[in-house]
This record gives sequence, structure tokens and C-alpha cells, in this order.
Amino acid sequence: MSLVEEIEAIYKEAVSELSKLNSEDELDNKKNLFVGKKGKLTQILKTMGSLTVEERKTLGKLANETQEKIDSLVASQRIKIKDFFYENTLKNEFFDVLRPIAEPNLNGTLHPLTQIQHEIEAIFTSMGFSIMDGPEVETDYNNFEALNFKADHPARDTQDTFYTTDGKLLRTHTSAIQVRALRNLKPPFRIIAPGRVFRYEEVDASHETTFYQVEGMVVGKDISIANLIYTMETLLSEIFQKKVKTRLRPGYFPFVEPGFELDIQCLVCGGKGCSVCKHSGWLELLPCGLVHPNVLEAGGLDSKDWTGFAFGLGLDRLVMMRYGIHDIRYLHSGNLRFLKQFQS
Ligand code: PHE
Repeated sequence: MSLVEEIEAIYKEAVSELSKLNSEDELDNKKNLFVGKKGKLTQILKTMGSLTVEERKTLGKLANETQEKIDSLVASQRIKIKDFFYENTLKNEFFDVLRPIAEPNLNGTLHPLTQIQHEIEAIFTSMGFSIMDGPEVETDYNNFEALNFKADHPARDTQDTFYTTDGKLLRTHTSAIQVRALRNLKPPFRIIAPGRVFRYEEVDASHETTFYQVEGMVVGKDISIANLIYTMETLLSEIFQKKVKTRLRPGYFPFVEPGFELDIQCLVCGGKGCSVCKHSGWLELLPCGLVHPNVLEAGGLDSKDWTGFAFGLGLDRLVMMRYGIHDIRYLHSGNLRFLKQFQS
């Protein structure tokens, strides 16, 4: 075979080999077999030394043209490969250009206090309690007088009160609901009354001027401390989903007799002591007691016939215990970065 024929054969082979490729990598590799440094065409050119000047001219020209033709073959094959790739991708991929873009999440979320309030409502309604509501601006009578705090009763000092200019007050506790319940409901009854209460407190990590309580009141025949303790322990184990350590201390509130403070072991520090429990390991969570006969009488009941228990649950503390929040001020801060953690 003459050199001319060989070059023509190389070209033919290049056409048939290169035009069937469909990947750029393969194309680059194969191309080098023909026109690369060690490619077939280059090898032939290396043998041209033995030829006459005339022959070299013709062959050189032919070799150059062949090189150019192979180069342009590679270029057009590259375009074909790319087209093939895009076509295939388009065929197999689905873009819904009309689909609306993902909307930013603008949904509101319930405040952790509201969430826990709802849970408590569910727990108590499942135990046969009904839910009562009362006003935040109360009379002195409902907040104090009927609850056995007489006008100059020293215990009034424990409830730092905001008074309104028209002689009313911002309720200092949800106990203000008790006499409303006694007057409006027919005993026996079981109610809870969740709500916002106000005290003129110096604000710190565990005190706010505005906080939340759930009042509970059960009135019936022969209601005992055992009923009270059982109800409280059921509630706490439901809320925390485990048995929590509790202790009962005597506590004084004019509207209960006997009165107790039910403490739970601090769940933030596990009883070791921290800023939330004021380094005592215990948290006052549940003041409670048997309803004082004077309160029953103020509510229009005969205290010889009726008995009851009452308790006041601090919701803010409960939320702090549950989530390990060290400072009550976060709860009313309106800080979205804080609140978004409770998105359910
Ligand atoms: N109302 C009381 C308080 O806020 C708590 C309490 C409620 C105590 C019911 C006894 C019975 O301090």
C-alpha cells in the first residue's frame, strides 16, 4: 500500500470510528489514536524523511488536509454528542415551569405557653373538668375579699397589686375565679380556669409582671387531701410524661385550710441547684389546699355540706421546666428566633 493509500485508509478509519462515539471522553481518547503525538497520521509523517522533495510536498499537503479533516470531524462529532446529551436530558427530565415557587413559611405557631395550656386543658377535660374563663380586670371582692383576705389582711402584701383608677385591679391570681364558679355552677363541679395574671414584681430571671396560671377547683361532698394529691400527681406525670419528684410543705393562703406548697424537683438542673430554682433544687409549682369554709360561704354554699380543693398552677414555670429555659423573660420577649423553636 502506498503512503497516499495509507493516509486515505487512516482517514476512512477515523470517520468510521469517531462518528459512532457518544461521549466526549471517548472522543478525545480516540482522536489521539489518529492525530495525537503517537497517532497513526503522525507516525506516517515521521517516515517521510526517505522521500523525494516532490513526494514530500504532495504527502505533506495530503497529511495536513487529512489532519484538518479529522479535526473538524472531531469538532462536529463533539457538537453531536452535546446535542444528544441535552436532548436526552430534556426527554427524561421533567420541569414543571408553571409550578408555583415554594412559599416562605409564613404560618404562625402557637406560643409554648398556649401549647402547654391546651395540653393541660386536654388532661383535665379527660378527667371530667370543665374550663372556665374570667376577666383580667377584677373587683377587689373577687380577687381578695371573698377569698378571705379582709381589707387589712397582711397577706394582701404578698400579692403586689396593680390597681386601676376606677377602684378595680388586675387580677393577681386566677383564684379570683373561685367565687364566680361557686356562684354560677351547681355543685358538685370540677373546673379549671387558665389565664393571665399580673403582679407588680421586680422583673428577674424567674419573675415577670405578667404571667400565666391555671386555677383548679373541685367542689363536692367529702373531698379530701388524698383526692387533691392524687389529682396533682396525675397531672404532673401526664405533663412531664414521667414520674416527677414532689414534696408537700405547709403553705399559707387565706382561702385554703389546710394549705400546701407542692414542690417538684427542678427539672432544669435535676435538683443540683440553678438560677431557675434559686439554687435550692426544688421549685414551688403547685400551691394548693382544701377550700376554706369562708370561701364556700362567700360563694353561697353551706360549708357543713360542701367541701373542695383548689390549686394554682404556674404555667410559665412549667414551660421553663419542660424546655430547660433559664429565664422567664424569653417567654414574653416576642423574639421570633426563640419562638420558632417551638414550631410543631
Ligand atoms: N392563687 C394562689 C397564688 O397565686 C395560688 C393558690 C391557688 C393557692 C389555689 C391555693 C389554692 O399565689
